[in-house]
Amino acid sequence: MYSLLRPLLFRLSSERAHALTLHALRIAGRFPPSRKLIELIYKTPPKPVNVFGLAFRNPVGLAAGYDKDGVAIRGLAALGFGHVEIGTVTPKPQPGNPRPRVFRLAEDEAVINRMGFPSRGGEFVEKQLSASGRQEAVVVGVNIGKNKETPNEEAEFDYLTLLSRFAPLSDYLTVNVSSPNTAGLRDLQERKALENLLLHLHQQRLVEQEHLKKRIPILVKLSPDMDEAGLDDALEAILATCMDGVIVTNTTLGREGLRSDSKGESGGLSGKPLAVRSEAVLRQTIKRLGGKIPAVSAGGIMNPDDAKRRLEMGAALVQVYTGLVYRGPGLVKRIVESYAESEVS
Ligand code: FNR
Repeated sequence: MYSLLRPLLFRLSSERAHALTLHALRIAGRFPPSRKLIELIYKTPPKPVNVFGLAFRNPVGLAAGYDKDGVAIRGLAALGFGHVEIGTVTPKPQPGNPRPRVFRLAEDEAVINRMGFPSRGGEFVEKQLSASGRQEAVVVGVNIGKNKETPNEEAEFDYLTLLSRFAPLSDYLTVNVSSPNTAGLRDLQERKALENLLLHLHQQRLVEQEHLKKRIPILVKLSPDMDEAGLDDALEAILATCMDGVIVTNTTLGREGLRSDSKGESGGLSGKPLAVRSEAVLRQTIKRLGGKIPAVSAGGIMNPDDAKRRLEMGAALVQVYTGLVYRGPGLVKRIVESYAESEVS
């Protein structure tokens, strides 16, 4: 079905096609008959996994950035995902960078984006989560970031505000310190800054947990562009501050081996060309974590074999985004079916 739809969507700008798809999923997800129909078409075999103390119906999730404001959670859940990570959410609403800011690199099966965290803000997203009722079989994570105007020295207050806001409404939180499109954000991955930020988040999490009587797993999402020593340092900070997991990776500033005309656009690159780098980072991450906490793999997962390889390498979960743009929503089902048949299980 997607092979018919794709040429039409690709005639629109990236952002327009995305907005249209998200809108359709939002509407379809809202009404039981259309939701049930999508569930029927994309029904995935059960392949339960337990990670960070949470029960996932399968290990395939939607990466952050697709549903930034949490408007289409039910529609997305109907596509068969085991988890949906919404966001990045910023405390206050902000418009992001001027358009155009998302570019398809069709020849490379890649995307470059410089969205810059457009967000309708914490209050709006909280309402979406409350309204969606949380009865879905899907695990919902909220990916949190800082507002553009917040200086790094005050960034922890943005993250703390969002932690408190979303702790009651989400299954886990992801601390995004790795998007390349907010000036200086990646500096928060540096050992001292990261340890300071995560320590405060951990302390606040303990308070929230006590109050809410539930566990609040916190993951940290890292960039693929750190050198080995930088990644080791970040992982040590993550372990030292009792975090529950790591997502590797966000998009890259690297541009190796691209052919498409839009390769010169600035922003973060995702999709097929990111796979090699993301895998290398995953390998090092799994080695350094030594099984103490789980790693989630994102970056260039375009087909079931890519996903299987990451899971065999030791990733506990995988996440997709750009693969959906090029291969369509059936990708989720194909990955889960192939995983269910494989020996990884
Ligand atoms: C992203 N990604 C992203 N990540 C994040 O943590 N917060 C965000 O707001 C966004 N926004 C976003 C927008 C667009 C248009 C894209 C393509 C990507 C990164 C995404 O979650 C993922 O880590 C990377 O895209 C790598 O995975 P794929 O796309 O290669 O499967």
